[in-house]
Amino acid sequence: MSPQRIVKWFILVVILAAMTFHHIAQAQQQSSLSESTNLQVLPGLSRLQVMQVMRDWSRALGVDCSYCHQASFEAETPRKQIARRMQREFVATLKHSDGSAISCQNCHQGQPNLLSRASAYSQSSAGPLRPLRVKLKSAGVVLWRASTKVRFLPKKHFMERMLSFNQALGVNCSYCHKQGDFEAETPRKQTARLMLKEFSAKLTKPDGQPVNCNDCHQGRTRLLDR
Ligand code: HEC
Ligand code: HEC
Ligand code: HEC
Ligand code: HEC
Repeated sequence: MSPQRIVKWFILVVILAAMTFHHIAQAQQQSSLSESTNLQVLPGLSRLQVMQVMRDWSRALGVDCSYCHQASFEAETPRKQIARRMQREFVATLKHSDGSAISCQNCHQGQPNLLSRASAYSQSSAGPLRPLRVKLKSAGVVLWRASTKVRFLPKKHFMERMLSFNQALGVNCSYCHKQGDFEAETPRKQTARLMLKEFSAKLTKPDGQPVNCNDCHQGRTRLLDR
């Protein structure tokens, strides 16, 4: 073999070896990615982007990483599953009625258990109820409730609404109301009012319709597995 041919062969071998190594390295990288990640609602995000989302979620709930993560970031925890569900069913599906996107922060505002605010609200409003207007876009009517004494609620629609609460949550009237006193405030009434004001009246489904109690509850009071 002439020296030139030897050099040519040598270069060819080096190129082939480099290509093979590149191939193996790539395959290894791909398999290590698919083996060690457990991404279901944030697929295709780079590690950097996942970290950015995680920081947003932590801030929105006012918690640190260990609130949802335990043994490893990949391992399943009940709170990780709730977070996934909130991302899939609320954030990725619902919109504000003006069409803008919703985020964890919109509902949570720095608290994991935002419903505990409902009872704090009940303590802070010890006096007469402040005027409350409930817009029922779905029914095409605007209901006013000035106080427990002065009320402009069309009786017919009002009771339909109460019955729809029963159905959506799979409960009867005494679940929210004190026996024999519909006007009395109860923590569940407060929660129902919060859902009415913050969810049903402000959020819409992909088809633009308001989100009603049954869209989320589907006959249950508790929808989160905790
Ligand atoms: C509210 C719950 C929650 C909090 C708080 C949270 N995470 Fe996560 N994290 C999740 C969920 C859910 C997933 C899986 C996402 C998916 O399925 O696409 C995840 C995935 C991850 C992953 C990718 C794991 C994999 O399977 O590859 C990393 C890394 C991670 N989180 C880091 C963090 C860090 C760091 C923090 C704190 C800054 C944090 N997380 C805070 C819920 C949370
Ligand atoms: C439409 C409103 C809404 C949105 C948007 C929302 N959540 Fe929630 N989330 C709730 C409600 C209501 C609860 C029940 C709170 C309670 O029990 O006090 C809850 C509870 C949770 C819990 C369980 C807390 C616990 O340990 O008891 C986690 C975790 C959570 N949300 C994560 C998220 C994450 C992450 C996002 C954004 C991807 C998000 N949520 C977006 C309404 C929302
Ligand atoms: C999921 C909770 C929930 C259920 C179940 C429920 N209600 Fe209500 N109810 C409320 C809330 C919240 C209000 C206050 C509405 C407001 O502030 O405008 C209310 C108000 C009322 C009022 C007016 C009270 C006043 O202040 O004058 C009556 C009457 C009433 N409900 C009857 C019923 C009846 C009858 C049923 C069963 C068919 C029922 N409710 C089921 C949550 C509920
Ligand atoms: C966007 C979804 C969503 C909508 C819409 C919604 N809810 Fe809820 N609601 C939740 C979540 C999430 C929880 C927490 C469930 C859990 O702890 O498992 C909850 C909890 C509740 C609870 C407390 C249950 C308990 O026993 O702790 C009541 C009462 C309630 N909702 C009433 C209503 C009423 C009435 C409506 C309609 C006006 C409504 N909700 C609409 C998501 C929703």
